[in-house]
Amino acid sequence: MANLNYFPCTTTLSSSHPTFPKPPASHRLQITSENKNVDMETNSSNNISQPKVDRRNMLLGLGSGGLYSAANLVITPRDSSATPVQAPVLDRCGKAKDLNNGKDIDINCCPPDTDQIVEYRVPPVSQMKIRPSAHRVSDEYIFKYNMAIDRMKRLPKDDPRNFFQQANIHCAYCNGAYKLQEGQLDGPDPTEVLQVHNSWLFFPFHRWYLYFYERILGKMINDPTFALPFWNWDNPKGMTIPPMFLEKKSALYNEKRSKNDSMPPAVVDLGLTGEKNPLQLVTNNLTIMYNDMIRGNSDVYGFMGKEYRQGDAPDPGPGSVERSSHTSIHWWVGDPEKNGEDMGNFYTAGRDPLFYCHHANVDRMWTLWQYFIPSNKVPDKRITNFDFLNASFLFYDENKQLVRVRVRDCLDNLGMGYDFERIDLPWLDYRPPSQTAGARIRRANTISKLAATIFPLKLDQIVRVVVKKAKKGKADEELVLEDVEVDTSKFLKFDVFVNDEDDNSFELDKASYLGTYAQLPRKSETNKTVKTSINLKLTDLYDDMDIADDDRILVTLVPRNQGGGVTIGNIKIIEAPPAKKPAA
Ligand code: C2O
Repeated sequence: MANLNYFPCTTTLSSSHPTFPKPPASHRLQITSENKNVDMETNSSNNISQPKVDRRNMLLGLGSGGLYSAANLVITPRDSSATPVQAPVLDRCGKAKDLNNGKDIDINCCPPDTDQIVEYRVPPVSQMKIRPSAHRVSDEYIFKYNMAIDRMKRLPKDDPRNFFQQANIHCAYCNGAYKLQEGQLDGPDPTEVLQVHNSWLFFPFHRWYLYFYERILGKMINDPTFALPFWNWDNPKGMTIPPMFLEKKSALYNEKRSKNDSMPPAVVDLGLTGEKNPLQLVTNNLTIMYNDMIRGNSDVYGFMGKEYRQGDAPDPGPGSVERSSHTSIHWWVGDPEKNGEDMGNFYTAGRDPLFYCHHANVDRMWTLWQYFIPSNKVPDKRITNFDFLNASFLFYDENKQLVRVRVRDCLDNLGMGYDFERIDLPWLDYRPPSQTAGARIRRANTISKLAATIFPLKLDQIVRVVVKKAKKGKADEELVLEDVEVDTSKFLKFDVFVNDEDDNSFELDKASYLGTYAQLPRKSETNKTVKTSINLKLTDLYDDMDIADDDRILVTLVPRNQGGGVTIGNIKIIEAPPAKKPAA
């Protein structure tokens, strides 16, 4: 049952919860078009690490009012160990295939090809765009937004700014149309797919995607200050589909959404538990947000996702928001009868205008995490690794110019010229109440087994497993689920609990809830199954349940989707932050 002691009544939220704090001074000082703050983190600010000079890597000084410059023309040799993910080569874009249900339907989501690529420089910020909360916008705003999307839909089909071309960006980067370039452009096609999900590329890729999408919308209505709305699903006041997307005649409407379960007044179900009680849903949601943003991560990789470089297998491991609240919203909106389409399937997600509104909030979570979560909760918030900072993508800008962008230039939203409307963060103090009574492992009659005896484990029912702690007594520890083999053609989700007494799977608002893995289906040419892994921070849970001094814990895995699709290779507990720190 929802614990009423800490359930915030939605009508008093604004007075009983901390208001959205002001950005720290250092954040405000970083309003700069050059993103100089990034340069401090690496010695090689002009080093566009290219395996080989691409014939199209001509840094044209083309440009709209000198926005682009040839300053990066000198391509310095890359460090021999540096292998950032390279922007795809467009004329090698292939077809994505549907391997679902044995069908073999080709889907072509490649963008128009061109020979001219410009290195993108973020233009100077003259006026900050403020992205508004989608539930609070004016009729005038809705009118403009509609008009912009409508015009985008009416552009010629082969205009890269056309609505469907923009939707295809998501398909191409997520469904195996692009390959990881291996350096020899005249050599054979590389085989490893480029995947921007389930790794440290997740936030940066989607930030750039929305950045250009927003600029294109502004161009459509001649309003360079136009800012995308964000779907404020982390606040009870925003936990329904924003009304402007439901008007059937509107350009913001989309046919393919879950008809029964997600229409207002239905409250979003970030846990996808199937719970119907709105009060319980709100408490579940806030607990999940607290977990995704604060309680569940020991280090920056826990939030951002794991390292991913040129030549790596895709899907090394998603960060907390990606694998939890973010994925749940996709699936909750999409039509489960049609394998999640549009929102709930990677290759179609961008066809629903709601996608960009959803991702504006995902992007906001990155900003909040960077600048508003106290650093005693999450110590290091920056990835300074060369291969992260220099990973690159291609997008068409608002002037139909193909541009190459790098991760290093998107680390600060203010530097990119936009900010978010200030809204309360009711999850910020939503730590679940401690749960000491009865939280011990029921040693005598437990039906659980020792971890070593049951792996690899097919997760098609609730499983309980005893796991030994890394260290006896108080310690910062993480639960690691490794070699998790997932079927990428399916929607998958499971929740993880520790020393959970009642196994009531509708309630997540309790100390024993540790975290979630969820994934959207995708249509993909290769890699129908991938191996991934997740780390879940145990430290706070140990405190909340007063079990720091035990020498083992009982882990319960609760699958939420029908029909299996997940095999867990191993579960173990390690000291956190992980001993293996990536080389800076
Ligand atoms: Cu590219 Cu929300 O997914």
